[in-house]
Order: sequence, then structure tokens, then C-alpha cells
Amino acid sequence: MNTEVIRIDPNKLDSAGIKIAAEKIKNGRLVAFPTETVYGLGADAFNSRAIIKIFKAKKRPFDDPLIVHIAEKNQLDELVENFSGLAKKLTDIFWPGPLTLVLNKTKKLSDKVSAGLDTVAVRMPANEVALSLLKNSETPIAAPSANSFGRPSATCAQHVLDDLGGRIDLIIDAGRTTLGVESTIVDLTQHPPLVLRPGGVSIEDLKREIKEIQIYAQDKILSPGMYAQHYSPQAKVMLVGGSGLAQVEKVKRLVSSFNPQKFSVGVLAKKENINEYEGCKVKAIGTEKHLEACAANLFYILREFDREGIDIIIAENLKREGLGLAIENRLIKATGGNNVF
Ligand code: TXA
Ligand code: MG
Repeated sequence: MNTEVIRIDPNKLDSAGIKIAAEKIKNGRLVAFPTETVYGLGADAFNSRAIIKIFKAKKRPFDDPLIVHIAEKNQLDELVENFSGLAKKLTDIFWPGPLTLVLNKTKKLSDKVSAGLDTVAVRMPANEVALSLLKNSETPIAAPSANSFGRPSATCAQHVLDDLGGRIDLIIDAGRTTLGVESTIVDLTQHPPLVLRPGGVSIEDLKREIKEIQIYAQDKILSPGMYAQHYSPQAKVMLVGGSGLAQVEKVKRLVSSFNPQKFSVGVLAKKENINEYEGCKVKAIGTEKHLEACAANLFYILREFDREGIDIIIAENLKREGLGLAIENRLIKATGGNNVF
């Protein structure tokens, strides 16, 4: 299959390009498109055959449910049941935006989307290209992140092409995504509501709106899609916690434990620390004072290390607050759960 790429300037929406992409969605084809978080691999949520193609293109297990994207709240009517007052409040506050809600699904929506569960995950992305594609397609779009299963999510069109080129019909290239980590997922069918994945909306912001809330436990598999190993580059990833000099010393010890003749080592460091390390390739994730920029760089840099043939990535953990929690979650999963120091 030839994968077509259409370039769209997000500041100057080209309706011809969007219309071509929307036609493909209507015809049951796979279209990768930008959201504010990461690129999604989309198909008509009501076309089961198209949904199956998503799983095959990504080599994703069929028990890992997809997120359904919408452009207008009235599209919820055909997707979810028991839309509670809390759901309304959260969508009023956080949509469009990086908050995915798990709600009871209607019968109309195929089991393929929800991997056999009687719930569905929905969100309204805060990205004009995505919203315009959704409106022109005249259907909700089911879309997981547009990467091969288990790999870091794609934050630019080239990374989608690297993983899925030849396996999908079209990629809308609108440059790098702004947030860089995926949406926060909250399961509202649980009491109290349960955060399944930290992401673009911070736990602190959620706690202000939800009186009682349970937070995921990193070591438990809570939903079929939450396998331990995820978001992984080809390189082995090691994550070093702590802060200040103690953290730097730990990273240095790890770097020097590898024979440079045998392994090329990369360090993913805070901007503040990039001059601390020798005998390895150092890349700055950003300054810890600006976690938004760090989140935007995370997957991008993991893939850059891969392209440069790095064998081992040693990552400094960041502050465990705000977007730092989403970054930590992705890095722990990239290690496969081992190699956290
Ligand atoms: O920001 C994002 O959320 C991006 C963009 C494209 O919207 N999407 C994304 O999708 O990250 P994906 O498929 O990579 O991750 C979705 C995860 C699943 O792996 C699963 O853990 C959870 O959402 N999920 C989906 N439906 C669910 C359900 N009914 N119950 C519990 N968890 C669900
Ligand atoms: Mg994903």
C-alpha cells in the first residue's frame, strides 16, 4: 500500500486537504492525523472492518481498546449511556482537551472498538486539524496513537511514517504536536472515579473538580491495554529518580558501568545537567522549570536516540508533579518496569 502524506498548515486550514482525508475516513480507510497530544491513527468508529484494520496496521492486540474522538458533544448520544452530572462537568471544563473519559457504551458501537468491554473511552481533541477532520468525516473517529504497538507514540508525521508507512492510507502532516504526551484517562464507571493513565490534564487539576478520586497503581494492570512494557524505543531504557547531585552521581555510575567499546550510551538529561556527563551522548529533555516543554520532547527524543543507534538510554526522572507524573509513567513503562533506580 502506498501511504499518501498531505501537509496542512495548522494556522491556515486547507479545506481541500481535510476533505480528501475525510473522504478516506468515510470510505473505511485509515488516516493518521495530529491531535494536541500525539498523532492518532483514525478510522470511522462505526465501521467494524475499518476498526479491525487499525489493530492490524499497528500489530496491536485485539484486547486493547481504542479511544473514540468527537468534535461535538451531541455525538456522545450515539456512543455512551448514563452520562452523569460529573461527566458533564468534566467535559464542560476540560473539552476540547487531553482528557479521555471512560463511560458506559451504547449497543450501537461495535465491541471491536472497546475490545469487548461494555465501556468506551471518548475525548474531544483540542486541535483544529483534528476537529475539522472529525466534522468533515461526519462520524466519530476511533484512534489509538499512530505508532507500532509498544513503540513511543508519534509526535510528528515522520515518526508515523517510520512505523506505519506502507500499512495505512494517509497521513495528515501538520508538524509536531504541542503537548507530546497522551491524554489523561479517567474511568467514570468506577466509584470513586479512577485515573487509569496520567496525561495532559494534571492530577492536581482533576482533584480540584472531583472530590473523591482514585489514582492508578503503576504496578497493576487495570485495563487490558495497560501492559507493563510500552512506549519503548529499541534501546534499553533505565530511569534514575531523585534530584540534585545524588541523581547526577547515580546516572554517572550507571554510565560508567557500560563498556564504551561495546555499548553506545545516551543520557536523557534535564537542561540544567547536560554538562555533567562524559563518554556518552547527552540530550536535553528541557528545563525542569518548564515541564510542558519536557513533555513535548519526550517521545521525540527517545526516537532520535534510536535513529542514532544508541543501545542504552539512561533517563533522569523529573519532578513528580503536573506533567512530570505523565512523563514518569511513560518512562517507567519504557523500561518495562525493571531498571528503575
Ligand atoms: O492522547 C491520546 O489519548 C491519544 C490521541 C490519539 O487521542 N490516544 C491514545 O490512544 O493514546 P491509545 O490507544 O494509545 O491508548 C488508549 C488507551 C488504551 O491502551 C487503554 O489502556 C485505554 O486507553 N482504554 C481505551 N478504552 C478503554 C476502556 N473502555 N476502558 C479502559 N481503558 C480504556
Ligand atoms: Mg498508544
